[in-house]
Amino acid sequence: MNPLRSLILAAAGNDVIRRAVATAPVSRDVVRRFVAGETTADAVGATRGLVDAGLTVTLDYLGEDTTDEGLAEQTVHAYVELLDALHEHGLADRAEVSVKLSAVGQLLDERLAAENAARICAAAQRCGTTVTLDMEDHTTTDSTLRVLAELRGTYPWVGAVLQSYLHRTVDDCARLAGPGSRVRLCKGAYAEPAEVAYQDTHEVDLSYVRCLNALLAGDGYPMFATHDPRLVPIVGARAEFHGRKPGSFEFQMLYGIRPDEQRRLAGLGHTVRVYVPYGVQWYGYLMRRLAERPANTAFFLRALTSR
Ligand code: FDA
Repeated sequence: MNPLRSLILAAAGNDVIRRAVATAPVSRDVVRRFVAGETTADAVGATRGLVDAGLTVTLDYLGEDTTDEGLAEQTVHAYVELLDALHEHGLADRAEVSVKLSAVGQLLDERLAAENAARICAAAQRCGTTVTLDMEDHTTTDSTLRVLAELRGTYPWVGAVLQSYLHRTVDDCARLAGPGSRVRLCKGAYAEPAEVAYQDTHEVDLSYVRCLNALLAGDGYPMFATHDPRLVPIVGARAEFHGRKPGSFEFQMLYGIRPDEQRRLAGLGHTVRVYVPYGVQWYGYLMRRLAERPANTAFFLRALTSR
């Protein structure tokens, strides 16, 4: 792995650095580039703008690695409030939610996380939309897929995320490509050891192509989450090869990253979903975005030192 990327991902877990960044006066302005705001109203406002531009949305109430049952409960409430607000504003047919199980108690107890996720799914069903379970570091993959299988028993539309940097993922793709499945394929954003993950970016990209073929060959609904200018046309070409029409798969990108490309793909008739994070706990999310691109770090450091 690139040493700068490892360093930034290590900093993501460091409390002293977190406090320094979170309290720096300029941080919040910089964060705005990647995060829609802190409140439900901010999230709904950003969703409205994207939907009006022809895009669809998945919303992430920021937070992860919760070891406090009260915080997990607060996260469930935030999602339910958001889903009700999306419904009320007539946006629930264009916007769903993404949930990190570690934000609803996975580190405390898998059962608690499953029950909390089920409450969010019930609210989504009531509001006429769906939920996708984000994927976190590899120590949680099996647990997340177990919870997914359980939730899909009641809510067959619950989506999963698979990460092409993990050696196991091509098999997971084949296993999860069945009818009715919704699978988001991404490269993966955590610092993972060589025993479980490809370290070389080229290997990760090759794995992404193997995985996208496995998903497109199946009967599910694949969601290709990448900004990579080489992979986006490969998705298009392979989808055509597999006889997939626009509407039988989708592209996904993050809020604030390649917005012109998001609109271009939507203009071609593709479903494009923008992942919109909001909330006050933006630190871990921001650090992963910085680690992906040295230019972002330079931008961030310049902003921190320019006042
Ligand atoms: P790559 O990182 O190779 O970037 C390709 C190009 O995209 C860059 O050259 C640049 O032009 C642009 N780009 C990418 N990242 C950028 C950034 N931060 N700032 C500016 N430009 C950037 N991961 C995970 O582990 N679990 C998950 O659940 C999710 N969920 C998820 C949802 C959605 C909708 C997306 C798009 C991504 C995720 N991810 C994720 C993150 C994912 O694993 C990955 O870290 C990022 O998408 C970056 O990988 P790319 O495929 O974009 O390629």
